[in-house]
Amino acid sequence: MSGEHTPGRRDTVSPPASFVEQANVSPSNSVVDAESHAVWERAAELLTWETPPDQPLPDDDTVEWYADGTLNAAANCLDRHLETRKNRVAIRWEGADGDTRLYTYLDLHREVNEAAAALRELGVETGDVVTCYLPVIPELVVTMLACARIGALHNVVFAGFSADELATRLDRTESGYLVTCDGYYRRGSAVNQLTTADTARMSVDHDVEPVVVGRLDDDAVYLGEEHRRYETLLDAHRNETVEPVSRAATDPLFVIYTSGTTGEPSRVTHTTGGYLAHVAWTGHSVLDIKPDDTHWCAADVAWITGHSYMVYAPLALGATTLLYEGAPDQPEKDRMWQLVERHRVDTFYTASTAVRAFMKWGETHPESHNLSSLRLLGMVGEPIDPRTWNWHRNHVGGGDTPVVDTWWQTETGGILVSTLPGVDDMKPGSAGPALPGVDIAVIDEEGEPVAPGESGYLAVTSPWPGMSQSLAAEASGANADDWYYVTSDRAVIDEDGYVTFLGREDDTVTVGNTAFGPATLESAIIDVNGVAEAAVVEANERGGTALAYVCTKHGKSGDEQLRDRIEHHVSERLGPTARFGAIVFIPELPKTHSGKIMRRLLGAIADGDSYGDTSALRNPETVGEIETVTRDE
Ligand code: WT7
Repeated sequence: MSGEHTPGRRDTVSPPASFVEQANVSPSNSVVDAESHAVWERAAELLTWETPPDQPLPDDDTVEWYADGTLNAAANCLDRHLETRKNRVAIRWEGADGDTRLYTYLDLHREVNEAAAALRELGVETGDVVTCYLPVIPELVVTMLACARIGALHNVVFAGFSADELATRLDRTESGYLVTCDGYYRRGSAVNQLTTADTARMSVDHDVEPVVVGRLDDDAVYLGEEHRRYETLLDAHRNETVEPVSRAATDPLFVIYTSGTTGEPSRVTHTTGGYLAHVAWTGHSVLDIKPDDTHWCAADVAWITGHSYMVYAPLALGATTLLYEGAPDQPEKDRMWQLVERHRVDTFYTASTAVRAFMKWGETHPESHNLSSLRLLGMVGEPIDPRTWNWHRNHVGGGDTPVVDTWWQTETGGILVSTLPGVDDMKPGSAGPALPGVDIAVIDEEGEPVAPGESGYLAVTSPWPGMSQSLAAEASGANADDWYYVTSDRAVIDEDGYVTFLGREDDTVTVGNTAFGPATLESAIIDVNGVAEAAVVEANERGGTALAYVCTKHGKSGDEQLRDRIEHHVSERLGPTARFGAIVFIPELPKTHSGKIMRRLLGAIADGDSYGDTSALRNPETVGEIETVTRDE
């Protein structure tokens, strides 16, 4: 690969003084310039340990975070808050239909204890895997924390996944317990979840005990004799308490599967101490969550984003977490802003692709609500272009909230690259520097660091507490100075250490002799007035040209004039080699359930290849139209 065009200098935006003054971490905080050891010590201090760890890492080369510490994750999210905040709200839940439920810390503590007692009655032991197949309802969080309380591992499977996908995950984790529900409402109609869950249960070789939460209003779904009702099980354990099981910091807390955007999902296991310290610390320092805040991470609990920043971080920090079950545009496209206004959300964290959808729907939606409660905006999941970044800050953040663009992965457990909102200047389009205590480099194919401004692969060059168990094992087996973790993300680091992400390696587009990260091309397209979203893919069957799929704002149809403006602007920004074989207007990009653009699928459509595993796709109904317009180009 040669001569990638990398983004030019970025504008900088300073955090407002009023934010810095109140920030959890501000420039005067010693952690800002501290050595890694001191940062991760500080992270551990946010937790309550039964046996406090001596130091973050042992003196030898083994990578075992907080090795001699013991703790319980559920006790950290619940018990320790009872003394001072038992009547504070832990969970504010809003259902797809607008129903709301509130759980104080006392309520949540009680129900988690009852659920833990119920799981024990079923035979769940420390180390067993309990699979959860539930939509975003409080019972999901209760079950996760009940597992954590007794040292069982939760394995949360996205409620929209098929029986096949559930079966694979039950099978691979040898999970003998399944907590599911009778059904739930999606886009106004009832979905029968139990039949899907039963199909999966029947298709695995081992026995799976089903527990069923009643979510539908009536008894629309028939429960068989084998089904244990969640409510009945809990009733049998009213007001019982279960001692939190003491766990070593390195003991597993849960398993989760990666999202499968680029291929086969793989299993990731996270630890109790390292993971919890990492997510609590980043919730505190990056998302600036305070105990009195209502924090809204608008994701599904089933993704790592949900585990870390809907459940563990906000509850460990004693804040209120807002859980929303429904779709962002139901019943109307202002639903998100209605929620922010109604619940007076302080910190709002969401997918960057969701923000592009908000921009596409138009500013009248956020502008028709009072969003002044918002103090911080965060994004995750895909590179964000400066135009969308600014749109979000202006129309949702009122023009002055800090925006954090946070980079991390299922494998990393928590955020690794981001600005600290109370400390660092922001550069729209660039995620920011590595967090204090985190070491990164951009390296070439040989593993050598490249010069600032040159593109390569992002590598994390020393261990961090939230790393998965298998990464920790890999690092333990290596010489500490030699170990590094290469991600498949292509990136550039500038002179200030700020990282701009160019997109994933598998998505690189070569035009002429120049390799472009998809983000570079897409960002240039989104710059053009009238464009909301874009995805660029390589089309081998069309002589290796690049195809640009473009969605326009407010659903207007694209025309020749817009096409010309895009071509003109892109070649002006990125040089004459940056040319597309075709610009294809489509109403919606294909996205996964977790909001990532499935570029792999667009490439396959362009080439007429087989689509491979598309089970992660959220909007399969758009594929037909994309096929048609692609063929016509
Ligand atoms: C991949 C990880 C981490 C929670 C969400 C998804 C991409 C994530 C950013 C960002 C550019 C980003 C990367 C990464 N990604 N955040 N701020 N800027 N790209 O977790 O499903 O494991 O996906 O998401 O490609 O490798 P995941």
